[in-house]
Amino acid sequence: MAQRRLQPDRIPRHVAIIMDGNGRWAEARERSRNEGHRAGLESVRAVVRGAHELGVKVLTLYAFSLENWDRPKEEVEQLMRLLDRYLDSEIDECHRNGIRLRAIGRLDRLAPALRKKIDAAIERTHENREMTLVFAVSYGGRAEIVDAAQRIARDAEDGKLDVNQLDEKIFASYLYAPDLPDPDLLIRTGSESRVSNFLLWQVAYSELYITGTMWPDFRKTHLVEALVDYQNRERRYGLTSAQVRAPSEDA
Ligand code: FPP
Repeated sequence: MAQRRLQPDRIPRHVAIIMDGNGRWAEARERSRNEGHRAGLESVRAVVRGAHELGVKVLTLYAFSLENWDRPKEEVEQLMRLLDRYLDSEIDECHRNGIRLRAIGRLDRLAPALRKKIDAAIERTHENREMTLVFAVSYGGRAEIVDAAQRIARDAEDGKLDVNQLDEKIFASYLYAPDLPDPDLLIRTGSESRVSNFLLWQVAYSELYITGTMWPDFRKTHLVEALVDYQNRERRYGLTSAQVRAPSEDA
């Protein structure tokens, strides 16, 4: 089993996933897109459990992008209902397992009842530290950067920030979840090789893993495969291979 090939001391701390392929999965089975999304929810359940069991500390799932608001109204409503259903059915188990829930995105666009439910789940689980589960909802990477820039400009205007001091670290502190580490691994299901406006700032040095598996078929074993692949990579952060292998020497 692939899990035996995993090195337990090199589990990526933060895994982010673009859950793509629900529609194509359904189409291939002559089912509706809604059925594809419903099947996708089962994968969410399985992958959250799997990531927790494998020792991932942060799991960020791209549940709904800002661009997704432009999908047909019924599809938008269904995706919102699924998120709602996930919170109803899984939050107890998440809490029992020490999982903390977070959400990033323009949450003010969500229906007030859903927003309230998300806030309540965040509040209820905020002390948990086994794993952090982040839902990116109504999320766009460029929007996140624009929102940060606006807050920076306001703080500069109010004299709370000296613009000459602004550097990457300070900029990042204005993003939606500044306390979380950047993703080590970005997984995309459904074959496409795009970042699709997801965590644009944070994925600067993430390892990318693209799989042909459609999201509704993705389970813990697929996550393990992705982690094994990740563990065979050498993360160089712009350095040479020799520097990475012997960081203290002048390579
Ligand atoms: C992409 O599939 C997936 C989404 C737009 C949303 C992801 C939603 C889920 C996994 C189910 C709901 C779960 C929660 C927690 C909200 P697509 O429709 O773009 O697939 P396609 O590219 O094959 O058409």
